[in-house]
Amino acid sequence: MPTRSGPIVILTGAGISKESGLDTFRCAGGIWTQVSLEDVATPEGFARDPVRVQAFYNDRRRGLLTDNIRPNAAHEALARLERDWDDEVLLVTQNIDNLHERGGSTNILHMHGELLKVRCEHCGGVHEWHTDLGADDICPACGTAGLMRPHVVWFGEIPLGMERIADALDRCALFMSVGTSGTVYPAAGFVAEVVRFGRAHTVELNMEASHGATLFREAIQGPATALVPAYVDRLLNEGIPG
Ligand code: APR
Repeated sequence: MPTRSGPIVILTGAGISKESGLDTFRCAGGIWTQVSLEDVATPEGFARDPVRVQAFYNDRRRGLLTDNIRPNAAHEALARLERDWDDEVLLVTQNIDNLHERGGSTNILHMHGELLKVRCEHCGGVHEWHTDLGADDICPACGTAGLMRPHVVWFGEIPLGMERIADALDRCALFMSVGTSGTVYPAAGFVAEVVRFGRAHTVELNMEASHGATLFREAIQGPATALVPAYVDRLLNEGIPG
């Protein structure tokens, strides 16, 4: 029996931002085909060559802030779902871009951090940062120079908000995954957790079947800008499939 209530957890990955002009990681021509993740997305890589890592994120930060990068219909549809659904909609994103915010979503958890924030390794302060981050920049909170890094979770580091995510997965009536290859844990393991709880409906909307596609009750392939608005319409008109 379909239901029009119950909390929803949405997980997004780089695929939801692809049609906005941002690269994914593992598709043809993706970021990890251009640069080694060990060099730019690990604490060891940062310790080895901080200038190279800062330059990698400075390039991506500048790219995100160019005029032609805007939220797409999929980002906007998820914001509409949050607005019009009668229960909580938590948007857990692996993405470090700000397109969900600019698309209108507000209940967002960036489990891999945010490209437009930096963190001081001396005081732990996190600050909005929209320009290049340099080796000598001073922490606005503690005044320490040279200890600021991108507020991004690197491989081998603990993602953010995991307790809140675990609680939301336990309670949800629907788990929706959009635009992720399902290759990086713990995010790739969320669907198995929801299936183990045994209550929620699960759906994957992705250009191709992800590594975890067979765990979802529904797995629909296609571009996010087509699939997400249509699925949101279905949820708001018919409810969560029973
Ligand atoms: N619409 C829907 N899905 C798409 C689209 C699109 N237009 N374009 C690509 N995809 C899908 C691809 O088929 C792929 O399955 O998006 C997925 C992107 O997968 P990845 O590049 O692996 O990105 P993601 O799953 O977000 O990576 C997870 O890995 O490197 C780390 O921290 C990084 O957050 C990232 C994490």
